[in-house]
Amino acid sequence: MKYILSPSLLSADFTRLERDIRLCENNNVPYLHVDVMDGHFVPNISIGVPVVKSIRQCTELVLDVHLMISQPERYIDAFAEAGSDIINIHYEAEGDKKALLKKIREMGRSPALTIKPNTSYKEVLELADYVDMFLVMSVEPGFGGQSFIEKTLKNAEGLARFREKHGLDYDIEMDGGISASNVAKPLDAGVNVVVAGSAIFGAESPEREITRFNEILSRYEAMI
Ligand code: DX5
Ligand code: ZN
Repeated sequence: MKYILSPSLLSADFTRLERDIRLCENNNVPYLHVDVMDGHFVPNISIGVPVVKSIRQCTELVLDVHLMISQPERYIDAFAEAGSDIINIHYEAEGDKKALLKKIREMGRSPALTIKPNTSYKEVLELADYVDMFLVMSVEPGFGGQSFIEKTLKNAEGLARFREKHGLDYDIEMDGGISASNVAKPLDAGVNVVVAGSAIFGAESPEREITRFNEILSRYEAMI
């Protein structure tokens, strides 16, 4: 199992995205987490297809695209063609999730399914065969800089138990309110992909914060 940091560009400086992407590259970060919001599934609007395309042209890092949109079926093609590597759709969004996950796979991208804090992991277990990753939200999706919701650890733990029991190998990602100071909680719950936005890009030294994350993640990797 790989332990991976996925910095959320939502908290990056949008006038200097390239600088912030290079910062990640230069500090051994493997993923970039890209938050797409439609102003309908969540109250906020963030970035869309053209920006994902531009980010793709600027880096070879894995683009971990989190679609917080009501109708993913209308946009999956566009986000795949824009160069997303991982496409996270929400379980709570409209449409046939199994069909959408299969479609993402057919397009040669990595399918992932996301659950909001009030959705139980039990609801998505039947879709485990169709995903490479589950994304467990640890805040209500929509905004960076919120506080970590402790009860969501139960979702991560449930997915980790199910993975173990059935000999599966999907990744478990957690997103929202995570910093180097509390990342041990999701990691102890079985999470292996960690999203952090404001903790990194809002830090006085983003570099130092990434280094702190990397040190903790490599300790967990060494424990396996
Ligand atoms: C929230 C987004 C997150 C957000 C996390 O809806 O999905 O990815 O950027 O930001 P922090 O790490 O600041 O909670
Ligand atoms: Zn996100």
